[in-house]
Amino acid sequence: MTFDLEILPDEEWAALVANRLEAKLGPGARICLATGTTPVPVYHALSGSGAFAEVVTFLLDEYGGLPPGDPGRCTSMITRDLVERVEPPPTVMSPEVDHDDPGEAAAAYRELIGDCGLDLAVLGLGANGHIGMNEPGSTAESVTRVAHLDESTSRSAAGYGATATPTWGITVGMSELLAASEVWLLVTGEHKRDILNRTLHGAVDSDVPATFLTEHPNCVFFVDESAGLTG
Ligand code: F6R
Repeated sequence: MTFDLEILPDEEWAALVANRLEAKLGPGARICLATGTTPVPVYHALSGSGAFAEVVTFLLDEYGGLPPGDPGRCTSMITRDLVERVEPPPTVMSPEVDHDDPGEAAAAYRELIGDCGLDLAVLGLGANGHIGMNEPGSTAESVTRVAHLDESTSRSAAGYGATATPTWGITVGMSELLAASEVWLLVTGEHKRDILNRTLHGAVDSDVPATFLTEHPNCVFFVDESAGLTG
C-alpha cells in the first residue's frame, strides 16, 4: 500500500485541498474532476486567480437521460460550482450523453482521454464504494463507457437537483483513472466513515471499486476528521 492518507480538521479541509489543487494547476495540466457534494467546498475555496488558464479539464462522468441544462447534470454542477466562479473560466470537456449512440460517445471520450492522459484525477467516494460511475462489480480494467447505475446512485441524483431519476451515465473508467499520474480521493462526513474504512483496510476487489486506488503508486486520500477519525 503506497497511498498517502491525510486527515485534516473539518473546518480547514476545503481550503487546504483547494491550495493543493491550485499548486497542481498550470498550463497544459490535464485534470479530471468529480462533481457531487464532496468537492463543492473545495471548488468554492479556489481563489480563481487564473489558476485554470490553459488547464485541460475533463468531467469525470455525466448522467444520461436528463435534459440538457437539468440542474442535476454533472455539467450543470461543475458550471455553477467551478466554471462560473473562476477567471478565466475553465473549459470542461464532457462525454456527449445526448448523442444518438451513447456507446459511440463513450468511445470518443475514452479516446480523447487516452490520447491526452491525465496528470491528476480528483474523485469522490460513493456510499457503495463506487468511483465515478464505476459501480460495484467494475474491475480495475474497466474502461470509459456507458455504465448502468446502482439504485442508490440513481436516487442520489435527486439530491443534486435532478428533475428525473437517471439509470445510466457515461463514466471515465477505472482503467483511465488508475493510469493518471496522480489520484486524489476526497472524503468528508461521518456518513462516509464505514465505506472509507472498507476502502482503506478491506480486500482490494471489485465489490468496492475505490479499493483499487490503494494500489495506485501516487494516490492521496484527503479526508476530513468527521470521516477519518474513528471512535
Ligand atoms: C461525481 C461522481 C460520484 C461521486 C460520489 C460521491 O462526479 O462521480 O462518484 O463522487 O457518488 O458523491 P458525494 O460527493 O455527493 O457524496
